[in-house]
Amino acid sequence: MSDLLEVNDSRTGKHYTIPIADGAIRASQLQQLQGSADDHGLLSYDPAFMNTASCRSAITFIDGDKGILRYRGYPIEQLAERASFLEVAWLLRHGELPTQSQYDGFVHEITYHTYVHENIKKFLEGFRYDAHPMSMLCSAVAALSSFYPESKAIFDPVQRNISIIRLLAKVPTIAAFIYRHIKGLPFVYPDNELSYGENFLSMVARMSEPKYRSNPVFTRAIEVLFILHADHEQNCSTSAVRGVGSSHVDPYSAIAAGIAALYGPLHGGANEAVLRMIEEIGDKSRVPAFIEGVKKGSGRLMGFGHRVYKSYDPRAKIVKQLAYDVFQSVGVDRDLEIALELERIALQDDYFVSRKLYPNVDFYTGLIYRAMKFPTSFFTVLFAIARTSGWLAQWEEMLLDKEQKIARPRQIYVGPGERPYTSTLKKRIVTPASALSSGTPTSSAALAAATG
Ligand code: ACO
Repeated sequence: MSDLLEVNDSRTGKHYTIPIADGAIRASQLQQLQGSADDHGLLSYDPAFMNTASCRSAITFIDGDKGILRYRGYPIEQLAERASFLEVAWLLRHGELPTQSQYDGFVHEITYHTYVHENIKKFLEGFRYDAHPMSMLCSAVAALSSFYPESKAIFDPVQRNISIIRLLAKVPTIAAFIYRHIKGLPFVYPDNELSYGENFLSMVARMSEPKYRSNPVFTRAIEVLFILHADHEQNCSTSAVRGVGSSHVDPYSAIAAGIAALYGPLHGGANEAVLRMIEEIGDKSRVPAFIEGVKKGSGRLMGFGHRVYKSYDPRAKIVKQLAYDVFQSVGVDRDLEIALELERIALQDDYFVSRKLYPNVDFYTGLIYRAMKFPTSFFTVLFAIARTSGWLAQWEEMLLDKEQKIARPRQIYVGPGERPYTSTLKKRIVTPASALSSGTPTSSAALAAATG
């Protein structure tokens, strides 16, 4: 026998039986609970989607209380230690690890689509030198849509596949070009002989050397950070990609929406905010005073807290270790000491303990990126490169899900009831009545009259 929710509606005295499946009821079942014959049925009110499942997904599993994160069933710890980023990107999309020939073919395809149209370069050159890299990335990825109009055929598997390959391949190139633009350096073209991560570092850092070789600790750090950031189920940016994609727009536009969402300081912008916070603290000795200020409401401890994790974010553990590795290579810096002190004090403080606020993935990533000499404003771009793989897997899953339709939440209207329009403003406007009385009822004449 299936699980059932028995509901008595005290407004009408009626009784309803609502099926429970996978620990959820269908919100649409509530529509049958009508207070009167002419109402539209009961709504569930859930601002910020605190308790609403918007889809069924087989991609990423999180148990926030236990600190578990798995991609397609594989624990994040094992993937971070042993997988490559492109292997994870394949896994997220296809549900299984690739065979050797699938992997080789995939790596080949990604490698050979890394170049971008030269006009993208010109497009990026149009930005001011101090433009925020996330604004540039968001616009450039949206602009890619205009280069590939055939990508609109989202239900054609061939088009969908090539769009996914192009996005995975070209986002790092665009990101690196953005880096070079803000630094005032010439763009470096992709090197097809390098791995995904090393090619990205080459496009970022290569100067006059004939063959770029990155610090292996940095290559490893980029690979691991990309894996950790690859997907995180229905977070703000992924929901944005799914929501925008549900209108059946092309994937470049949908991914641009995800980039816009990721830009926010409560989401991907947090790693940037952590570094700015550490810079503001300035010295380990000022950490206790800073924590007291946070507790009094003067701001948040950035990089702490998570909507889903109510214990240590499993990614933060891996990143902390990675930070040690990187700092061993480049030398310990004052900011790492401040971060460690912030974590030490916060994890003992009742304010943070009682609210289950633990370091999230972004607490240490910024420190690593800084040690690798990335500018603070560029951190979220690195996150976006990795998350593109998850966004694309989620976007495709949404498109192929027969239950999905255009995303369109309901609202509870709390504004005024009907009232007559009584404005006395002086303004240029043509009302239907004045257009008709002028004797020239064409729209062009009305427009001419309006614009004088
Ligand atoms: N510092 C201090 N207090 C905090 C913090 C924090 N970082 N995070 C939450 N709190 C407090 C809130 O003030 C609130 O306290 P109250 O109950 O006394 O009012 C309580 O903890 C619950 O906070 P909410 O805002 O309701 O939690 P929510 O789940 O909505 O927010 C979020 C999650 C946005 C991540 C929040 O913890 C935060 O702002 N963290 C800092 C920003 C950050 O690091 N974001 C990165 C998230 S990871 C990612 O996107 C990749």
